[in-house]
Amino acid sequence: MQVVHLSVECFPVAKVGGLADVVGSLPKYQCKLGIDASVVMPWFDTSFVRDNAFDTVAEGSFYQGSEPLHYTVFKEREDKLGFPLYLIKIPGKLDRPEVYCYADEAEQWIAFQHAFLHWAKYDMGTPDIIHCHDHHVGLIPFLLRHSNEFHDLSYVKTVFTVHNGQYQGWMGWNKSILLPPFDTWRWGLLDWDGVINPLATAIKCCDAYTTVSEGYLKELYKEANGLQNLFRDQADKSYGIVNGIDTSYWNPVSDKLINYKYSITSATRGKKENKKALCTKHGLPDDVPLLSFIGRFALEKGADQLDRIIRYLFSQNQYKIAIFILGSGDARIEAQMRALKDEFAEKIGVYVGYNEALAHEVYAASDMLLMPSRVEPCGLNQLYALKYGTIPIVRGIGGLKDTVKDIAVEEGYGFVFARMEENDAEDAIMRALETYGDTKKWKAIRSRAMALDFSWDRSAQKYIELYNQL
Ligand code: GLC
Repeated sequence: MQVVHLSVECFPVAKVGGLADVVGSLPKYQCKLGIDASVVMPWFDTSFVRDNAFDTVAEGSFYQGSEPLHYTVFKEREDKLGFPLYLIKIPGKLDRPEVYCYADEAEQWIAFQHAFLHWAKYDMGTPDIIHCHDHHVGLIPFLLRHSNEFHDLSYVKTVFTVHNGQYQGWMGWNKSILLPPFDTWRWGLLDWDGVINPLATAIKCCDAYTTVSEGYLKELYKEANGLQNLFRDQADKSYGIVNGIDTSYWNPVSDKLINYKYSITSATRGKKENKKALCTKHGLPDDVPLLSFIGRFALEKGADQLDRIIRYLFSQNQYKIAIFILGSGDARIEAQMRALKDEFAEKIGVYVGYNEALAHEVYAASDMLLMPSRVEPCGLNQLYALKYGTIPIVRGIGGLKDTVKDIAVEEGYGFVFARMEENDAEDAIMRALETYGDTKKWKAIRSRAMALDFSWDRSAQKYIELYNQL
């Protein structure tokens, strides 16, 4: 079976968030299970693209409105990621350093989807499944069925995965002339609330849609930034499949990015050494519990709560704690974190920015990871943390609820809290600090966490079952 994953992020080619990690690892596991899976993404001017060899495999031209566009498809020569990787380059549209942030994003993603379909029709072969990830490629299921030019491809089944339903790719109807010609009688499939909504279009037109956890699927039925009725209406073709992690890359036993490698049996020593290395570098004590936050400084991630929570923790003299923050995003939150560092230099380490290697070091060094998310479709950080014996303290929503069991229940291995405000996070952290004081108990929880299997093996198979069903 031939499956093509379409996405605008894929680790290590171009990454902004968890979408990249999923698209960079799921196809590898699917290939291992005997599926012919590949990834097609836009060409970005990133170090991975500059440092690796690519062959030109196809070229073509089409019009976007009245603008002629030329595309070239490149294939990475050695399948280094464990699956074939194709990049589509379009001078003037898909040839830039960043994934997001350009004013002509609508033109960029329309061009990407158009070029892909053009290539798929004329040159690519015959995929059985096109698996689209997030709204950037949400128009594909529509165009396959309702654009005459791509009628030859209408036999292909489409799966659409929602990694984040908050972003929907809205664009005004004035952009419709930029799409490949389509059956205008079907305009309603593109529309939601008077604008073109690619996420809504995908949910209406795909053969099956999935969310990255079951919990998140249930949440989308109730609240989906305006699309809840649509998600419910199309529930018959919905599936919740929890993400996995790439344990060949995220594994303290073999991680080349951490100072000291360790396994379950050597975790006490290994984590101590990693903590010492990180804390020394950032001027923090290494003999107190280390709590970290890694992620985007966004409301979705609850990063606006960090300042309040951290100030509270530092004001509680009975508890000793050190904190490490790694992330970037909202300028106000970045400023808050820098101010905390100025005020509490010996208690908190702050790195504003994106740093993959440092993230590995922080997971290895920390005792606890805080995720006070408002919305979390799956969340990968808690899964990485568990693998590194770092105990997650999470808000019980979406994928966090599905993957973290509170220590209050049998075989629990984390701390789960309910509400954003009302000091629930603080209480959960205090519970964690008290438990940490009981060394034997903490060690047992850590061993349990590290022994969990959140690798892709199970979930990759579930996707294959879905493809087969289609
Ligand atoms: C998005 C979601 C995150 C999920 C990731 C991968 O970034 O916010 O919860 O884990 O996609 O599916």
